[in-house]
Amino acid sequence: MIRPAELIEEKREGGEHDPQALAELILAYARDEVHDYQMAAWCMAVYFKGLSGAETDALTDAMIRSGETLDLHGLLGRKVVDKHSTGGVGDKTSIAVGPIVAACGVPLGKMSGRGLGHTGGTLDKLESIPGFRVELSTEELVAQLREVGVAIVGQTADLVPADKKLYALRDVTATVDIVPLIASSIMSKKLAAGAEGIVLDVKVGDGAFMRTLDDARVLAEEMRDIGVRAGREVTCLLTDMDQPLGRAVGNALEIHEARDTIRGDGPEDFTELALDACAHLLALSDLGIDVDEGRRRAEAVVQDGTALESYERWIRAQGGDPDPASLDQAPVRRPVPAPRDGVVQRVGARAVGLAALELGAGRRTKTDSVDHAVGVLCFAKRGDTVLAGDDLAEVHARDDASADRGVEAVLAAYEVGDEAPPERGILLDVVG
Ligand code: URA
Repeated sequence: MIRPAELIEEKREGGEHDPQALAELILAYARDEVHDYQMAAWCMAVYFKGLSGAETDALTDAMIRSGETLDLHGLLGRKVVDKHSTGGVGDKTSIAVGPIVAACGVPLGKMSGRGLGHTGGTLDKLESIPGFRVELSTEELVAQLREVGVAIVGQTADLVPADKKLYALRDVTATVDIVPLIASSIMSKKLAAGAEGIVLDVKVGDGAFMRTLDDARVLAEEMRDIGVRAGREVTCLLTDMDQPLGRAVGNALEIHEARDTIRGDGPEDFTELALDACAHLLALSDLGIDVDEGRRRAEAVVQDGTALESYERWIRAQGGDPDPASLDQAPVRRPVPAPRDGVVQRVGARAVGLAALELGAGRRTKTDSVDHAVGVLCFAKRGDTVLAGDDLAEVHARDDASADRGVEAVLAAYEVGDEAPPERGILLDVVG
């Protein structure tokens, strides 16, 4: 018989839970036998007192046991790799990485989420492609992985239902940014979805959960430890999210940019991150190659066009039209002019993400609908030299009034100064 108040008190006093008791708390919550207010109090106690490795494992394991799991290796008869990002602005990496890795002969099966707040979601981006279906049955997912080598789908209701419930509660009780809870939330979904080689893109900076490299390293190590203890191979890439990734922020705009990158014509920072992620995924695959060889192979399939063919096959397999001309376009486009000559010091990722959200590209609550066409193109990035009046960015809007507001918000995200800022590449560190 579970007594939530006792566990809340034990954690509040800094005690360590018996793994069995913690598992029972989570499973009882998933069965609606523990109240939201009790779980919220427990999450807040964890905020102050943390969880040990054993407790984090027990929590992760209980979340996995709350629903169904997928054995992709068993179903496909070979190793499957997966990648996950902790979320950022302009992050369309999975959409580029999936077909590149598949073109190298490695299946990538992935469950993705929707955007909330200033960060976008892969599913929303994919749904800007006319006809694209994000809901596939397990049989369809496995068949597509076998035939096409890549599938990105929505998380089924049956996979890790305890996390779904707990995450929604954390979202409204100021308990999202707690390292062991984030780590077990992300890793429970990765482990339940069955991939054996996992690359985690841990975003660092203004537009991310983790604002500093040290905090991001702690989260990366915690997630890696969970994965390793569960017998999976995990590499964490710590990557810059102080400015938007690439140029495009907004659903259809990001599909254009992902496709450009797959055919070798993408922005430098995004291309670098996508190829690095591919290199690490290939190194974790059953190809038996190292990261350098993975990078060479990823570059080769981009150069010779097989990655683009793989992208088109994948989009068609999920019912979509891969022709970029089929993507919806916003009726109003407005330049954002540089206010002075100088060097771009910063392009606030969070501010650009919020500007895109206000334009309609994102959702404030889970039930909002998104406008796939609108968003922002950030032409000038940190370190670029600009002249007064140059286009720093371009706002894509549904109407004039929202375009005006968008221009003002994007301009406020830019800081133009005299000195060149310190150089900072996209990849800040690797853990694993
Ligand atoms: N993403 C998740 O899936 N879970 C968290 O707790 C935070 C980000």
